[in-house]
Amino acid sequence: MAVLSLKDINFSYGKTPVLKGVSYDFEEGKTYCIMGKSGAGKTTLLSVLSGLASATSGSILYNGKDIRNIDTYKYRSKYIGVIFQSYNLITKFTALENVVLSMDIASCKGSAKDKKKKALELLKSVGLNEEEANRRVLKLSGGQQQRVAIARALSYDAQVILADEPTGNLDEDTQNEIMDIFRNLAKNGKCVILVSHSKSVEAMCDESFTLKKLSTK
Ligand SMILES: Nc1ncnc2c1ncn2[C@@H]1O[C@H](COP(=O)(O)OP(=O)(O)O)[C@@H](O)[C@H]1O
Ligand SMILES: [Mg+2]
Repeated sequence: MAVLSLKDINFSYGKTPVLKGVSYDFEEGKTYCIMGKSGAGKTTLLSVLSGLASATSGSILYNGKDIRNIDTYKYRSKYIGVIFQSYNLITKFTALENVVLSMDIASCKGSAKDKKKKALELLKSVGLNEEEANRRVLKLSGGQQQRVAIARALSYDAQVILADEPTGNLDEDTQNEIMDIFRNLAKNGKCVILVSHSKSVEAMCDESFTLKKLSTK
């Protein structure tokens, strides 16, 4: 069964339609690439998928259950891990503190010491050592900040990972390393949904679909 299902989703900002009749099934163990030109509605679709915005009509099913019938806070803090285009990290905090904070928000169990240990392991798994984990985000490079954002999205073991242009600002080698992380997550059973306009990112995903700009339809 699909972990996330879009059923005939329409979305408008006021009177301006952005998404029209979008239906798609996302399964565990796969990476998906949502393609489309700038302004096609990719970020909007991720907002709808993540429960940040409500579709104007249509429904989203999470493991068969309409997300309208799931507590939004729970859905967003536990079931879905989101990596925003701008990372949305707390830049004054260290990488480690950012990851631990999201565990706290998701009410993850365990002592502060356990959470710190898990956060360090996660950061290590995305390529950050202990010194980098204890550095303020402000003093990390773009690629390193992207890794912190990924570790944060993984911190509460969400089944679905959403990422908006996760490699948009990165050089090719770093892009490939980050894509390897996403592909490994899918191999370990996560459902990974990426937004990108890069053909090379698309080629590294299992499935892709393209959103068309409505004005040109
Ligand atoms: N908060 C908003 N209010 C009104 N219009 C918006 C808002 N956010 C995005 N839009 C418009 O919706 C369309 C889709 O935007 P977006 O989802 O950001 O596209 P993409 O991520 O594919 O570039 C664009 O025309 C954009 O200008
Ligand atoms: Mg966008």
